[in-house]
Amino acid sequence: MIRWPAEAVWEAVAPLLPGFTVEVLPEIDSSNTELMRRARAGRNEPVLLVAERQTAGRGRLGRAWHGEPGDSLTFSLGLPLAPPDWAGLSLAVGVSVAESLHPRTRLKWPNDLWVDDRKLAGILIETASFGGGGPARQAVIGIGVNIAPPLGSLSTPAISLQELEAGLDAGAALLRIAEPLVRNLQLFEQHGFAPFQARFQARDALRDRAVTLSDGTAGTAHGVTEDGSLLVHTAAGMQAISSSEVSVRPASS
Ligand code: BTN
Repeated sequence: MIRWPAEAVWEAVAPLLPGFTVEVLPEIDSSNTELMRRARAGRNEPVLLVAERQTAGRGRLGRAWHGEPGDSLTFSLGLPLAPPDWAGLSLAVGVSVAESLHPRTRLKWPNDLWVDDRKLAGILIETASFGGGGPARQAVIGIGVNIAPPLGSLSTPAISLQELEAGLDAGAALLRIAEPLVRNLQLFEQHGFAPFQARFQARDALRDRAVTLSDGTAGTAHGVTEDGSLLVHTAAGMQAISSSEVSVRPASS
């Protein structure tokens, strides 16, 4: 059984987010799906939902996200946000989680967390409108962190937090991530991605590396712009890549 520091998370976050609650569910299809269901039903209270087990965990680009209880931390934070510009939100979340987890964590654009080119954590962000036409939307920020090495082999090389820091469990990781994440979301709501640009660059896993875009275009990554687009120098010149449907990967050669 996992011991969750629900009260400590609540104590750290509630002063920043009035009405905030922490919930731990033994099993759910997906913590993101659950908070999106609630948002569509008009529930927009700030909540952090930990799923001990997800039966239909979701990753970016329609992929599945698998994790066994204890071996991975899977949770979603739902809160209303009204930034002047949403561009770069997923990168800002990546910066926050990377800074909280481990000094060696790097960011693989747009928001995968890597250590030594192996995936430590992934982020899936969705938003739902409130209706009524105001600027605020309910943001659902789903985070999955590998805590212990997986038993089976994975298609993507993965790394777990316990390989970096023996003894760290899912609850301790959650406690590290939650409060800075809320503070950084509030910073993003005020100022957008700009305050995160240099912080992203400091952890950019792709900088100056050969990359291939999903349409086959080859180039070299040159960091991110003020709105979080990835700059790639290609044969056709510098391109700013903003679509999350574009996959960027280190070239094989
Ligand atoms: C990715 O790397 O593709 C994103 C993975 C996001 C996984 C987390 S686990 C908690 C939350 N609930 C989900 O179904 N997905 C996110």
